[in-house]
Amino acid sequence: MRIDVLNGVNLDLLARRDPGVYGGLSLDELETRIYAWAVELGCSVRCRQTNHEGEYVEWCHAALEGVDGIVVNPGAWTHYSWAIRDALELAGAPLVEVHLSDVEGREEWRRHSVLEGLTAHRVVGRGPEGYREALRLLTEPAG
Ligand code: DQA
Repeated sequence: MRIDVLNGVNLDLLARRDPGVYGGLSLDELETRIYAWAVELGCSVRCRQTNHEGEYVEWCHAALEGVDGIVVNPGAWTHYSWAIRDALELAGAPLVEVHLSDVEGREEWRRHSVLEGLTAHRVVGRGPEGYREALRLLTEPAG
């Protein structure tokens, strides 16, 4: 099983963002954990991150071919990028939306997701473990 993990804008600076909200982990450390969880769960993962919306859209297009699941954390684009929603609408593979922080308990503008209705699951506020849960939901869909 092949899964793409697509992290979006500002997640490259994860280690420098408010540790009270994001935990202080770097993107490298997060990706290292994701690759280890993939081995544990018996799937093959490709992690990507960009600050460029067009590139993210192209990665969504690339994920239309040959992947069995997509984990997305588009960062702030989650709340307003209809281009990313349109791109992910084409995905044949199941989608899981992840947010490290509890977007429901923060500012009002973070409560809206353009991905509403598209995703098989949404995991929020569980820190890095949220990605493990997303991989688990994709690899063990009945669990
Ligand atoms: C985030 C939440 C978004 O509101 C924010 O803009 C991010 C990160 C999260 O993982 O908690 O950049 O997607």
